Amino acid sequence: MAALEAHDLYRFYHAGEEETLALRGVTLEVERGEIVVIFGPSGSGKSTLLACLAGLDEPDGGYVNVAGKRLTRRPEHVRAAIRARHIGILLQSENLLTNLNVADNVRLQLALAGRAKTSPHIALQQADIAHRSHAKPGQLSGGELARAALAVALSADPDVLLADEPTGEVDAQTEKILLRALNERRARGGATIIASHSEELIRWADRSIQLRDGRIESG
Ligand SMILES: Nc1ncnc2c1ncn2[C@@H]1O[C@H](COP(=O)(O)OP(=O)(O)O)[C@@H](O)[C@H]1O
Ligand SMILES: [Mg+2]
Repeated sequence: MAALEAHDLYRFYHAGEEETLALRGVTLEVERGEIVVIFGPSGSGKSTLLACLAGLDEPDGGYVNVAGKRLTRRPEHVRAAIRARHIGILLQSENLLTNLNVADNVRLQLALAGRAKTSPHIALQQADIAHRSHAKPGQLSGGELARAALAVALSADPDVLLADEPTGEVDAQTEKILLRALNERRARGGATIIASHSEELIRWADRSIQLRDGRIESG
């Protein structure tokens, strides 16, 4: 069983008479322990695809299975439960609740995943942010915010990690920590899907998929 399976995904956006075909029949499978980079020009559908794979957006056609469970066309509370147990998400911003400190953000994620007894410390250390665990997101630098978000996303050891341009705006040290954490995930059998323009990430990944105008062009 693939860690993630997406079949023939379509997503259309409407604004007045304008129609944008953001995804036009995207099919992909990602195995356990595999790191896949999705690349393509701006507007090619990378973020829309990740949002559909995460169950944060609902495709207009096609389906998504995560860890063998159907994610699409389920009520929001079912999607949220599947997401909490099986998916880690790293967005470009707004990954953290601003009124909770870093450790409590991690604790919340663990509780949602049914792992309230797991100490947040492991994830905080893995992301090299343990020394800032009592800080609120508003008190963190850009690199620290990215590492705190990584700690949250990895804390429940999700079957699938979805990351939208995670190395886009981070410092070299944070990028190193991120790549190290992704390598450790790979060794434990976690699947990772990254939207990125980075040539280095594309070379480093197990496989890359090129999107153009909402379609898979290669990969
Ligand atoms: N919420 C939205 N409403 C309308 N159009 C959108 C929305 N989100 C994305 N789009 C459009 O869908 C296409 C794909 O966007 P996106 O998935 O963000 O691409 P990428 O992440 O590759 O830059 C673009 O043409 C974008 O303008
Ligand atoms: Mg994007």
